[in-house]
This record gives sequence, C-alpha cells and structure tokens, in this order.
Amino acid sequence: MTESATYLATRSRVERYFDDHATEAWAQLTSDAPVSGIRATVRAGRDRMRARLLSLLPADLTGRRILDAGCGTGALAVELAARGAEVVAVDLSPALIEIAGSRCPAAFAGQITFQVGDIADPDLGHFDHVIAMDSLIYYHRPDLARTLDGLLARAPQIAFTLAPRTPLLMAMWRIGKLFPASEKSPRMVPHSVTALRRALDGGRLNEVERISSGFYISTALEYRR
Ligand SMILES: C[S@@+](CC[C@H](N)C(=O)[O-])C[C@H]1O[C@@H](n2cnc3c(N)ncnc32)[C@H](O)[C@@H]1O
Repeated sequence: MTESATYLATRSRVERYFDDHATEAWAQLTSDAPVSGIRATVRAGRDRMRARLLSLLPADLTGRRILDAGCGTGALAVELAARGAEVVAVDLSPALIEIAGSRCPAAFAGQITFQVGDIADPDLGHFDHVIAMDSLIYYHRPDLARTLDGLLARAPQIAFTLAPRTPLLMAMWRIGKLFPASEKSPRMVPHSVTALRRALDGGRLNEVERISSGFYISTALEYRR
C-alpha cells in the first residue's frame, strides 16, 4: 500500500519519540520498577487493558499466528506465547525491539519473532489475530481506517485500543496542540467510534470496554470480518 503523507508524518514522529526521547521512560513504565503515583495509575490501567484485549482471543492459542502490532517492550507478545501462539511482534523502534528481545524469557524465544517494521506492511503475511495495544492511538481517522482495513484483509480479528473522544481528552488534545513544549511527543488522536465505523470498509467494529485509571483512558475495540 502507498502510505499517505499524514500517515508517514505521524509514523516518523512516533518512531523518533519511542526510539529516542521516551525509550527509557517507556522501558521503566513497562517494567516492575517502582513508578510515581500518576505513572502507577497508568501502569495499572494498561495492565487491565492488556488482560481485556487478551480476553477477546481464545484461551488456547496453540498453533495460531498472531501479530503484536506495535509491540513496544513485548509484554503482550510474551503472554500470547505463554498461551501457545506463534507471535510476530513488530515495532517501529529498534531500541524497544532490542529491549523486548532481551526481556523475553528463553522458554518463549522460539515462538516470538521480534522485528523492526511497520504494522501496515503486507509482507508480514496473514494472521489468525492481530492485537494493537495503544499503538494506533496516534493516527487520524482516514489513516487509521486504511490501516485497519489493510489488517483485516490479512486477519479475521483485530483487537485494538483507541483514545475515546471524551470532553477531558479533547481538552487535553487541544491544549497539547497549543504548547510547543509537547512538540516532541506524538499526539494521541481521540476518536468517535461512530465516525470511525463510517470510515471503515466492510468489517464489523465493536466497542468492547472503556478503561479509565488516572491519566490512562482508553477504549478496547474489536474489528472483525
Ligand atoms: C504506547 S506504545 C505501546 C506499546 C505496546 N503495544 C504496549 O502496549 O506496551 C506504542 C507503540 O506503537 C508503536 N507503533 C506506532 N505506530 C506503529 C507502526 N505504524 N508500526 C509499528 N509500530 C508502531 C510505537 O513505536 C510504540 O512502541
């Protein structure tokens, strides 16, 4: 697929952020190391979200090929492998892929391929399931819809998260736009599920659950054939 200019711009901003500015903070947030109050609520919310997304897949994943799309430091990939899956764990950031590989327990190393790349790359092949936790949250609706439809052509089920379009998040989003200090971080784009549904091409989009924990506010969704 030929990526749009907005997709490429978002992707390079996300890559720079996670591969450079935020690598250490992200490694810490996703580890067992103690974190401060706000980060602890985010970690707790993300733990709940990971469990919720995993609950959308069969308990026994033996023989299933799964894409962990935007795998970060790899916690989800390890949980998928522990349930028997063959996992392709892909991320834009070489630094995070390296951390993910180093954190992977030896028992699961043979089941997970960690690789640097783009979620949307068709060369990754076909899958039984795709999970994209907090990785599609930066993309604008046309790019998001295109990515989801591209993935659905290669997998019957995509479990993913988005930032909901709540008044609080919209206010934060607008403020974020006003302050150049936040220029380094990629901005989350809150979405309306109804508007996204209209932009999609044929699959069924279900809103599963919203999880709120301190500054972590995220909606689990499922896109299916
Ligand atoms: C907020 S982190 C979440 C990481 C992981 N899924 C988790 O929940 O711990 C977002 C991740 O998505 C990755 N990402 C965003 N867009 C991507 C794309 N188009 N292809 C591959 N990775 C992408 C980023 O590099 C980053 O590591």
